[in-house]
Amino acid sequence: MKLNTNNGLGRAALRLVVALVLTFTWITRAYGADTEYKLVRLETAGQAVRVRLPLTDVSGKVRPKERTPDGYGEPLAPTKTVLGEKHFLEWQIGYDTREADAPNVVKEIQFVRKGETKFGAELSKMLVDALRLGVISTNDILRERDRLAKLSEATLEEREGITTEKTPLENKGGALPDGFTRWTQKVPQFLRETEHGWIQIQLKPRQRAVGNQAMVYVCIPMKRVLTADGKPRAPGPAKTKETVFYEFSRANAGFLLDIVRAFAIASKQHNEDMGQILGKILEMKTSSP
Ligand code: ADE
Repeated sequence: MKLNTNNGLGRAALRLVVALVLTFTWITRAYGADTEYKLVRLETAGQAVRVRLPLTDVSGKVRPKERTPDGYGEPLAPTKTVLGEKHFLEWQIGYDTREADAPNVVKEIQFVRKGETKFGAELSKMLVDALRLGVISTNDILRERDRLAKLSEATLEEREGITTEKTPLENKGGALPDGFTRWTQKVPQFLRETEHGWIQIQLKPRQRAVGNQAMVYVCIPMKRVLTADGKPRAPGPAKTKETVFYEFSRANAGFLLDIVRAFAIASKQHNEDMGQILGKILEMKTSSP
């Protein structure tokens, strides 16, 4: 159909189409700018791998929390809390993606899992960049890869479970309403604490399947995060859409390798994936000039 712009109706229709296109463009731009801060962005800063993390994306992959004695941490409202010594960022770090064009992808790292092609991303890219910058060495990667087979013998997802026990109220006083009994679940959690931060492996029931899955979280204390100019972030509430930075350098290279090891013990699948990723990184290293 051709718009006849010579008459009033045609011109009005044309104006409407132009207005709609402009509105759509404005909305998509505004939305893009609005969510860019939520991306985990990887950069290099001198001899370090620098990770930019969102501070206010409370339901995303990076969540600000208050430390609690049970280790899980308590979610908080970052713009209404003076973020300081008691607080940390819980980062559900990823290492792969289905999309070749996703942020932080290493296209050379490609592997097949359950018939699906995966590309290395995030942790994979951090390892590639860390190796290129000399934060870690080829020997570190070789050592981690050689350790995988031993670690795969007793992975947590396969070995551990969530248990449910009947726990009568007798000693607690009070009675339950007619016909109800009391049950308590025990969920194991695994922590590797270091001076740089800690790594947590949580067992969670699978969302659309039976059994549990081991989730790996990197926990970064607020006192270790930096602002864009590389200085420690002073305690204070988060600004809207604030981002902060964390650097992996030679000083905390062990913490980066601890993340690989956490995946290696989390489950057989993660262990296998780490094998694929470390193998491809070593191939990339030997084929580069
Ligand atoms: N797969 C990719 N990243 C993961 C993570 N952090 N925990 C569990 N499974 C994952």
